[in-house]
Amino acid sequence: MEYTIAVLPGDGIGPEVVREALKVMQVVGQRFGHTFTTREGLIGGIAIDATGLPLPAATLHLCEQSDAVLLGAVGGPQWDNPNAEVRPEQGLLGIRKALGLFANLRPVKVHPLLLDSSPLRPERLAGVDMLVVRELTGGIYFGEKRRERTDAGEWASDLCLYTQAEVERIVRVAADAARTRRGKLMLVDKANVLETSRLWRSITVGLMQQEYPDVQLEYMLVDACAMHLLRRPADFDVIVTENMFGDILTDEASMLAGSMGMLPSASLGAVSAADGTRMGLYEPIHGSAPDIAGQGKANPLATILSAALLLRYSLGLKAEAAAIEAAVDATLHAGVVTADIATPKQPPVGTAQVGDAVAQAVEAMGTGQ
Ligand code: IPM
Ligand code: MG
Repeated sequence: MEYTIAVLPGDGIGPEVVREALKVMQVVGQRFGHTFTTREGLIGGIAIDATGLPLPAATLHLCEQSDAVLLGAVGGPQWDNPNAEVRPEQGLLGIRKALGLFANLRPVKVHPLLLDSSPLRPERLAGVDMLVVRELTGGIYFGEKRRERTDAGEWASDLCLYTQAEVERIVRVAADAARTRRGKLMLVDKANVLETSRLWRSITVGLMQQEYPDVQLEYMLVDACAMHLLRRPADFDVIVTENMFGDILTDEASMLAGSMGMLPSASLGAVSAADGTRMGLYEPIHGSAPDIAGQGKANPLATILSAALLLRYSLGLKAEAAAIEAAVDATLHAGVVTADIATPKQPPVGTAQVGDAVAQAVEAMGTGQ
């Protein structure tokens, strides 16, 4: 089969890590007999510099014409003023909204070989394997924003609004995922304070009783969740939560994995094909890391693993996705790692060497068919 992938390398280390993911995808294509046609677009700071806009219309058009989007990272110190009219993050928020990517999947697994890289004690981390499903196109991120100057001083407000339909569709994504895992769903909210959270709870309880009686539903307040993520992280299976809580909790959860350089993400739209595939944007959860950009030492594994998610969710290529994941595993076992996860026993190599090692591991593996 032939597929078209929109590639948005973005800023900082984005281009370096995306290059390695594409390298691995090309090898997967050869092994399994697919053609991945890639077309590059601008997003973020580099797009601002070139066009004045963080998400040029041409980029959006390119994405709409593609089967999936692979993104590096956006942002950097030169565009960092939060009061600026145009900012790189607007590109990211804009593309999520424009493509209808409401479901953000952020899996957090602690690889047994990296137990010592986390700031948490290894015995707390054994068995950590959770999936955070974050609502991505609603809530306080996208509600009306206001700011006014009065005689008594300035005021500002950000509206947090959720509709029943928005809650239902994200809960279904999370509950479907729970079914394929340990069958546990944790709704995280602030129902003791927020009306939107009380809406989430009542809708979720009803929907789960009706459609997912086989999935065990629990809820937790977001502040308690922040604590339990560190206290007993292995107990979590699937977490579903609103946009801003998901943003905060996933940065916290990422520390369990030792390095943000290990964690992929998928941002999915509605299922659009009979085979269950859907439009999606795939990116590492780390940022553009301007401090190490251009030095060839960024960890490309989060982006490579994001490419695996792309194959699985947007192209329906399950064996191919699993091949990448197994190749990443083999690379870690071989001790081919970047500085963020290096140990005295495993000295660091560069971004490209890690990409080469994963690509070779895919080659060595065969098609498995
Ligand atoms: C993320 C990021 C973005 C967000 C920023 C860059 C707008 O933190 O993807 O988690 O808050 O969603
Ligand atoms: Mg974030």
